Amino acid sequence: MRLHVVNHPLVSHKLTVLRDEDTDSPTFRRLTDELVTLLAYEATREVRVDPREITTPVGPTTGVYLAQPRPMVVPILRAGLGMLDGMMRLLPTAEVGFLGMVRNEETLAASTYAERLPEDLSGRQCYILDPMLATGGTLAAAIRFLTDRGADDITAICLLAAPEGVANLEAALADLAVPVAVVTAAMDEKLNDKGYIVPGLGDAGDRLYGVAH
Ligand code: URA
Repeated sequence: MRLHVVNHPLVSHKLTVLRDEDTDSPTFRRLTDELVTLLAYEATREVRVDPREITTPVGPTTGVYLAQPRPMVVPILRAGLGMLDGMMRLLPTAEVGFLGMVRNEETLAASTYAERLPEDLSGRQCYILDPMLATGGTLAAAIRFLTDRGADDITAICLLAAPEGVANLEAALADLAVPVAVVTAAMDEKLNDKGYIVPGLGDAGDRLYGVAH
């Protein structure tokens, strides 16, 4: 698994405002959107392209277009939805599939409660959007879901990651032949006993959309 922590002052600045408990939901949503676009730029470094002959007003040249099949962007409901627009700004012709996953707050185990994805993802590059790589359970389950359907290249974009989650994810995917990359804005200190990232930013879904329970 490849881990890329994006080290850029604009990323760090936006992340600091996101972390601040005084940042309100509208500002949190806007900054998430901007931050994801910056992360997406790094995350799509290996996106597949095909050569394309075109003619400029001055003459012919060979450029590139995104390859077929188009990349698949998969936000993990609910909090991953807050990352979708920021991602689609860079990849407007990507397709979008949805995966609803919830973690049991006592056992921290992840389960799937909804999905809208093609049955066959053979040959597809997939970009998973999940703001918090905490225990790694949700992300590991989402990656397995996609590779079981044939996805052959996975990149997860996370606002924050915890070292325990990255280690768990690596262990959970040790037998997976498909390449997996994680792109994040920061590697935080640790998880607390409730599975929250420390210092983190709190509950990403609640901060984006309010408390829904
Ligand atoms: N999910 C969140 O929203 N925040 C955390 O810190 C961990 C999991």
